[in-house]
Amino acid sequence: MLEGNIPPSLGNCQHLTWLTLSQNNFSGNIPKQLFGIATLSVMLLLGQNRLSGSLPLEVDNLKNLVELDVSENELSGEIPSSLGSCTNLERLCLEGKFFQGSIPNSLQSLRGLQEFDLSSNNLSGPIPIYLEKFSLQYLNLSFNDLEGQVPMEGIFSNASEISVVGNHRLCGGISQLQLPKCTVEKPRKHKMSLAVILIISVACLLVAVTMVSCSILCWFRKKREHQISGLLLGPKSLFRVSYDRLHKATEGFSSENLIGLGSFASVYKGVFHEDDTVVAVKVLNLQHRGASKTFMAECEALRNVRHRNLVKIISSCSSIDFQGNDFKALVYEFMSNGSLERWLHPVAEAEDGENKFKGLNLLQRINFAIDVADALDYLHNHCQTPIIHCDLKPSNILLDREMVAHVGDFGLSKILKILPEPINSNQSSSIGIRGTVGYAPPEYGLGSEVSTNGDVYSYGILLLEMIIGRRPTEPMFEGGLNLHNFAKMALPDRVPEIVELIPLASDQEEVDVTTRSYQNPSQSMAEKRKEQCLISMIKIGVACSMEAPQDRMNIVNVVNELNAVKKIFQGTRTHL
Ligand SMILES: *[C@@H]1O[C@H](CO)[C@@H](O)[C@H](O)[C@H]1NC(C)=O
Ligand SMILES: *[C@@H]1O[C@H](CO)[C@@H](O)[C@H](O)[C@H]1NC(C)=O
Ligand SMILES: *[C@@H]1O[C@H](CO)[C@@H](O)[C@H](O)[C@H]1NC(C)=O
Repeated sequence: MLEGNIPPSLGNCQHLTWLTLSQNNFSGNIPKQLFGIATLSVMLLLGQNRLSGSLPLEVDNLKNLVELDVSENELSGEIPSSLGSCTNLERLCLEGKFFQGSIPNSLQSLRGLQEFDLSSNNLSGPIPIYLEKFSLQYLNLSFNDLEGQVPMEGIFSNASEISVVGNHRLCGGISQLQLPKCTVEKPRKHKMSLAVILIISVACLLVAVTMVSCSILCWFRKKREHQISGLLLGPKSLFRVSYDRLHKATEGFSSENLIGLGSFASVYKGVFHEDDTVVAVKVLNLQHRGASKTFMAECEALRNVRHRNLVKIISSCSSIDFQGNDFKALVYEFMSNGSLERWLHPVAEAEDGENKFKGLNLLQRINFAIDVADALDYLHNHCQTPIIHCDLKPSNILLDREMVAHVGDFGLSKILKILPEPINSNQSSSIGIRGTVGYAPPEYGLGSEVSTNGDVYSYGILLLEMIIGRRPTEPMFEGGLNLHNFAKMALPDRVPEIVELIPLASDQEEVDVTTRSYQNPSQSMAEKRKEQCLISMIKIGVACSMEAPQDRMNIVNVVNELNAVKKIFQGTRTHL
């Protein structure tokens, strides 16, 4: 029952991610300030009001918007061709009443569209042929003034998914549409003048030049992005894959391929047989409230980030499964060495006897610590808007074939960004939403906003766990003692007593390490350096996991100090 104009000052809400004003009695123009909210990404729903005027050109500012609904208003004018810049749109509802002109060509860039409704307007001109190529699930063009041939391919091949009734000048299409046959226009014979031939030749030449430069560009890009990306990864947007393809890749989401299970999602290993790309497919559990928002949040968080220590998202799928249920999945590059959790706390593996998860050496641990700190520094300080991970823990650190660590699972980072309330009451009690017990900073339990300092806390705990070999949740850490205090009390002299038995490096490397310091190639020298490294790392872990957020170490310094630790370990530096 809200009425009057939509206040332009809503544009000041610069962190909104979704806005729904539908089914009210709003009138007047759509204020263009709404389109200045760069964060608006999940949905903008203004349908079923009495809004008039045109759809502002500025709509193209909302490059990340997934759903736009301005249907059943009194909007007029043409569909702005700038809408073609909103390339993430999946649902676009422009039905009723007065849009006119033709369907702009620029909309051919909206290749992710699944639901497109233009019905009951006053649109003229032909049905654009590019719609055949979209993976649409619903297309309603009825009750307009469209003319010419109805395409036959893609969505136009299934009469139950499209609607074109009420356009009296359409022809052709598949037979179920029962439209009149198109009368074939006889190609008129032109006498080509010299000028025309010249123009055509120039055009051809231009096209050829463009194609060559495009392929050179693409070639460069491909070279940069490894094998995986060749097939799936677009330069900017996430390519979408179909349910069918994921179903095949995971052998019907078989339990043999299940590699991870959480409340929000299940993760499967999959292989795209076209090019043998191995991937991890995270299927969202949409029964779980919030899972769908996690999906969009994670997509958005990862869409514009690229870093060697972040798990790379290859593709997404938002679709309907064979039973007709909603289905959402994210596709990542596959990390063949599993999670850090499995390496830190190996469970005896019965079947094949050999446990490959045994014994990370010190160099590997130092490298992981640097990898994860690099990733955090990037997320906090080098992204367009800082991204807070919120759930850093060993099971979310994944190791690739070369044993490089990658931070994964941005599901919670997304949720916290999107929730309209600071977290409503019954959710704040759930562990899931605030990170994980043991790794989440104490202030989150007291209802503080999430912050980069919070991530640093989790990082500190992770680092201590990597060195000491104990989880923060072990029974000995109930009551007053926690991993932070335990480590702090051992500094500096008792550090060797509390740390796990850590081999220096693998056999081959160990030789290198001991012979590298030529002056004193003895084992004891190496042992001494090892001890120095352990003490430094415990110090960093303790400084990161301080109780008060403002006392915690800055991640930039963490990165610097850890790199110094690595040099000490390698014998190229003697102290911090
Ligand atoms: C298409 O739109 C018209 C008018 O908005 C509506 O009456 C009709 O039910 C829609 N068709 C389908 C298949 O939903
Ligand atoms: C529909 O468009 C035509 C011109 O394209 C115009 O003459 C007519 O008034 C429009 N009808 C409505 C209801 O806006
Ligand atoms: C057409 O679409 C409907 C509903 O989406 C589906 O059940 C049906 O199998 C499709 N028909 C063909 C021939 O693809």
